[in-house]
Amino acid sequence: MSTTSSFIRALGLELPIVQAPMAGGATTPELVAAVSNAGALGSFAASALTPQTIVARVSEIRALTDRPFAINLFVQPTPVPDPAEVEQAWQRLAPLHEELGISPELPHQWCQPFEAQLEAVLDVRPAVASFTFGILEAHQCERLHDAGILVVGNVTHPQEAVAWQALGADAIVAQGAQAGGHRGTFMGPYEEALFDTAELVEACLDVTSLPIIATGGVIDGYGIAALLAVGAQAVQLGTAFLATPESGICDAWKNALLEASGETRLTRVFSGRYARGLPNRAMRILEKNEASVPAYPIQNALTGPLRAAAARQGDADYLSLWAGTGVARIRYMEAEELIAVLAAELEEAEGGQAVPQPPQA
Ligand SMILES: Cc1cc2nc3c(=O)[nH]c(=O)nc-3n(C[C@H](O)[C@H](O)[C@H](O)COP(=O)(O)O)c2cc1C
Repeated sequence: MSTTSSFIRALGLELPIVQAPMAGGATTPELVAAVSNAGALGSFAASALTPQTIVARVSEIRALTDRPFAINLFVQPTPVPDPAEVEQAWQRLAPLHEELGISPELPHQWCQPFEAQLEAVLDVRPAVASFTFGILEAHQCERLHDAGILVVGNVTHPQEAVAWQALGADAIVAQGAQAGGHRGTFMGPYEEALFDTAELVEACLDVTSLPIIATGGVIDGYGIAALLAVGAQAVQLGTAFLATPESGICDAWKNALLEASGETRLTRVFSGRYARGLPNRAMRILEKNEASVPAYPIQNALTGPLRAAAARQGDADYLSLWAGTGVARIRYMEAEELIAVLAAELEEAEGGQAVPQPPQA
């Protein structure tokens, strides 16, 4: 059985490269369009956006490219938190608010309603809809397929790959432990879903026949080649694109990435869900109470004002500096140039063989 490059063929991509969706403003329409125009797949992170904003941003992407792109959502219910837990978590942020000189109001919205976001995605019909933090209902997957949208599910464990295959997904993103940002784990404890990226690809190949997009810790074309060699059809890079001029993260975060020694840590203090990033002052202070931080998305909403103020003030000590393990080798260059460099490195690593070409029209 061979599914070699079926995902790439279905989308007409020139390169087996996916730019990761990155919530928090990184994946601007300019970044997504530049990546797609360069022959890879751009992905737009829409989890934090209202349905109306999703529609507006997709229009902006379409004004910049007529190539395929993905839209990404978090599959999550709207939580009903315990007010006492919220109050305690809010009080624990007070010293950090004081250090930054802000006195924010308690956030009153925890996340955007997932079902309404999904309707917006169905309306705008991207080539690909990708999902993390959970799994769709069967009828939701069917509606996406009926609209001609390819469905991609993020997995951190082979059992999650089996679940997405049973649902009828078109591909999976296999997210290794090296990945920057949030762990997408939705079955079992997160500690049991910390596979090395290449090992996760191999473990998923054992249990599914779905095309696999490998992600986590890849920063150059040689890393892409290594994951294609173990059976991935494409490789998704997140951190590598954070330092492009098109990425929407603040300058303090970009500078922290460019100066990073390479140390990253998994923490749940910023959002209530484990995520990998650069250690900083806020992480160290909040880690004292890490176990009792409210679950995602409550803590994420509670730390929102702190992180927004830190971005305004250009202070990396209070940002969530998400980054993967490849961060020490991050490069500052425009997205189009980065794709060209990645493609050249991949070609060199593969012994000068031509990279996959788009099918003839
Ligand atoms: C800043 C940041 C934000 C992220 N946001 C999302 C997201 O919204 N949806 C998603 O599926 N993955 C998200 N991820 C995870 C990526 O999809 C991917 O797993 C990760 O970037 C791969 O590791 P790398 O950063 O080492 O390339 C995010 C990663 C980062 C670094």
